[in-house]
Amino acid sequence: MLIMKKILIASTNKNKVREIREMLKGKYEVLSLADLDCDVDVKEDAYTFIENASIKARAYYDLAKIPVIADDSGLSIAYFNELPGVHSARFYKNYSYFERNTKILEMMKDIKDRTAHYTCAMVYYDGEQEYHFIGECYGEIAQKIAGENGFGYDPIFYYPPLGKTFAEISAEEKHKVSHRGIALRKLVAHLEA
Ligand code: IMP
Repeated sequence: MLIMKKILIASTNKNKVREIREMLKGKYEVLSLADLDCDVDVKEDAYTFIENASIKARAYYDLAKIPVIADDSGLSIAYFNELPGVHSARFYKNYSYFERNTKILEMMKDIKDRTAHYTCAMVYYDGEQEYHFIGECYGEIAQKIAGENGFGYDPIFYYPPLGKTFAEISAEEKHKVSHRGIALRKLVAHLEA
């Protein structure tokens, strides 16, 4: 019987766990915090994606004592000086993503430079060593909300090579080009090296 290595995904964000799980399927036994029935209040108040991911990876390793993947990610909009960036999850926190996306489109009304990118910092920590991997995906803020797939800002993240928003493409298509897909493939290549 093939015994797969266990990895804990240190995230309470169900969408991120789902995406990482989909991408590691068949390669690793992916556990989430729900599987371990554990949770810890981690303060993600650092100034960089890597630092935040590192804080999460170490906190969850201390709890579970199995190798951990932590991801910190966000959407940076050039016109807003690369904000919300690391603050993406906290930006208009008490509003739904539909409301947040609507707000961004209002703020970007008539703005020509719509350049935006997603960043994903992934940290793998096995209790001894910590490894960092970055994935970036460039696109634009769409003119209108479109699509129902994905999560978060995907309905307003227009990806020119496919001519669609991330919410209009399938999960498989997204994984091939997304910030999370890029970072995770680097991480897996490292684990398999
Ligand atoms: P984190 O859990 O602190 O890393 O929060 C990341 C936040 O960035 C998410 O809650 C979303 O608002 C945004 N984000 C990161 N990756 C994606 C993505 O793939 N699609 C849409 N929004 C994303």
